[in-house]
Amino acid sequence: MSGLMRLDGKVAIITGGASGIGAEAARLFTEHGAKVVIVDIQEELGQNVAVSIGLDKACFYRCDITDETEVENAVKFTVEKHGKLDVLFSNAGVMEQPGSILDLDLKQFDRTISVNVRGAAAFIKHAARAMVEKGTRGSIVCTTSVAAEIGGPGPHAYTASKHALVGLIKTACSGLGKYGIRVNGVAPYGVATGINSYNEETVKMVEEYVAATTILKGVVLKASHVAQAALFLASDDSAYVSGQNLAVDGGYSVVKPM
Ligand SMILES: NC(=O)c1ccc[n+]([C@@H]2O[C@H](COP(=O)([O-])OP(=O)(O)OC[C@H]3O[C@@H](n4cnc5c(N)ncnc54)[C@H](O)[C@@H]3O)[C@@H](O)[C@H]2O)c1
Repeated sequence: MSGLMRLDGKVAIITGGASGIGAEAARLFTEHGAKVVIVDIQEELGQNVAVSIGLDKACFYRCDITDETEVENAVKFTVEKHGKLDVLFSNAGVMEQPGSILDLDLKQFDRTISVNVRGAAAFIKHAARAMVEKGTRGSIVCTTSVAAEIGGPGPHAYTASKHALVGLIKTACSGLGKYGIRVNGVAPYGVATGINSYNEETVKMVEEYVAATTILKGVVLKASHVAQAALFLASDDSAYVSGQNLAVDGGYSVVKPM
């Protein structure tokens, strides 16, 4: 059994862990032996996820990732509680409403960049500092998107932010390799979560659209598929993988249907 516990003895922070992909990852990482700190701004949801997993394995810490002091405090809290930090799953993100570039709302643009890029950068900075301080050969995984590779599926600021995030992954990989810290991305196609769905009807719409437009047929993309890919990158199973952006998209981003 212990051979299957891919994060046995590891301590992980999951940002955006109150909902969707992050909540699924919190469940999966703890099933694999990790202690998880769920970071989010949605307090009630985040607490509920932690309680449903078990407070011996997971806890919630309220933190807005756009505030560097809050980010620093979240990392401090984790290290004080668990003694170290092995894994950062930097997954929190927002997506603005789609619209024409001719009507681009630059306030909204700044907001998306501030969460998806600046927030991830702040977390990478403080998580990596904690890893370096303790000599931990850690793993950092960021949730990017198919919108990190191609234009079209995402709105403008979202697409720009996810492209920038891939750049950040590469540059962090470059700077942190000497400390034995790996940095990778996981790039999903559409998953019905809080970011794009708010009731059964919208869940169905997202899933049907994704099923119709992707290449791989017969599988409906769920948050659990993305969490499995993040688990691989977080664990020692990917010990020599760094700087990569692993697509979980059924071939969507690499095939142009004829
Ligand atoms: N669902 C998809 O179709 C899809 C596809 C590709 C990539 N992604 C990415 O996956 C990641 C997770 O999204 P999801 O689909 O699970 O959506 P979600 O809305 O269910 O989860 C995102 C979480 O991030 C949190 N968050 C937002 N701003 C925050 C902030 N400033 N500080 C702390 N937490 C904050 C939200 O409260 C929420 O709980 C995001 O980065 C998103 O861009 C999602």
